[in-house]
Amino acid sequence: MKDLYGADYRKYEYIRTQAMSVCERYGYSEICSPMLEYSDVFRRGIGDETDVVSKEMYTFVDRGGESVTLRPEGTAGIIRAAVTESLIQTLPVRFMYCGEMFRYDRPQKGRYRQFRQFGCEYIGEKSPYVDAIVIATASEILNAIGIFDFTILVNSLGDEETLEAYTKAVVKYFSRHEKSLSPESQVRLSKNPLRILDSKDKTDIEICSMAPIITDYFTREAGIYFGKVRELLDTYGLRYEVNNFLVRGLDYYTHTAFEFKPVTGEFRDSIGGGGRYDRLVALFGGPDVSGIGFAFGMERLMMLLSSEHFDTTTKTVAIIPVSDNENDYSFSLFRELHNADIAAEFIHSGNMSKKMKVVDRLGCELALIIGDEERTSGTVSVKFMNVAESIAKSRTINANSVVQFVKNALK
Ligand code: HAM
Repeated sequence: MKDLYGADYRKYEYIRTQAMSVCERYGYSEICSPMLEYSDVFRRGIGDETDVVSKEMYTFVDRGGESVTLRPEGTAGIIRAAVTESLIQTLPVRFMYCGEMFRYDRPQKGRYRQFRQFGCEYIGEKSPYVDAIVIATASEILNAIGIFDFTILVNSLGDEETLEAYTKAVVKYFSRHEKSLSPESQVRLSKNPLRILDSKDKTDIEICSMAPIITDYFTREAGIYFGKVRELLDTYGLRYEVNNFLVRGLDYYTHTAFEFKPVTGEFRDSIGGGGRYDRLVALFGGPDVSGIGFAFGMERLMMLLSSEHFDTTTKTVAIIPVSDNENDYSFSLFRELHNADIAAEFIHSGNMSKKMKVVDRLGCELALIIGDEERTSGTVSVKFMNVAESIAKSRTINANSVVQFVKNALK
């Protein structure tokens, strides 16, 4: 669980604002659902046998004896909210969200136990055009924050008939190789066989290379649907690769599934992913309508942005009384500057050398120094903190003109 501050916090805010402004153009409005839900929301929504539910959830019994869970992802809670708040009476509806998620996983680069996602859900319209628009929206978010070197992995999990037939074929195939599979995949074989296709284990990958391909099990409709999605992604000019082993880690997906991965730099894991879900809305008691959505890992996006542009701090002026005798007079000046929306620091503790060290540490651009002489003559001594030695570093100005002077100097 990472603390978020300084340049990283500014990156986070930047990504969130850019993403929101892209999504507003695509008709999404913001929703903020609780971080804590009844555990059943995720068990039913995501699937009991998924890694997320079976191994990674922060679940506990509250004082009322209810089993509750810190949300591991946004989709299940948003769909639950849309149904319980009756937000899906006129369709389609589009929601965007940004917030904390929790997964008890082995921490490593880009993987945290508390992390943040920016996500979107487009509910109530099923069409390859919508799928293409949603994938394009996600790509546009990456472009808006300055990320261009990525690829989109795309697959289709077909409809329920496809998934049923394909799962049977996969189980049959992997059962023949059971003894050679990694211990983890041997467990998956009985609980969540499609996840074997996603294994990072070397031997598993070799075995997977000969595994059945989902396209061979598509119903006619599922095949046509996926073909159209690919055609529309081509029309958009998006750079994508079809990966028939992309199964995603959450059980609710049907038809189109996708993931975004960087193609340059050290970090090559998924920065975002999503897909279509046909059953989720009805599962929570809503109408039998389909949805599609995606989520980006904010920390992962932050890793891809250089910190250089986020190190800047607000330009500040320091007001420094030389002794306690000038405190009140200087404080009035400080107030005057704040009232004029100027970022100012009132530095009045310690001796002069200590005060100047604080000015340096805070990175103030200007120091306004007020001693006995300045106070009695109604002037202020100005010291420019960040100019080269060769340029005049200080001067005296009239106290009446201090606001205008500082405004010009900090421009
Ligand atoms: P997901 O692929 O599980 O999908 O997560 C989306 C993104 O969250 C990942 O691509 C990754 O960037 C980030 N992420 C996941 N786990 C961690 C972690 N432990 N630490 C840091 N980042 C992480 C979903 O969550 C779906 N709800 C997406 C979706 C929305 N599908 C349909 N609608």
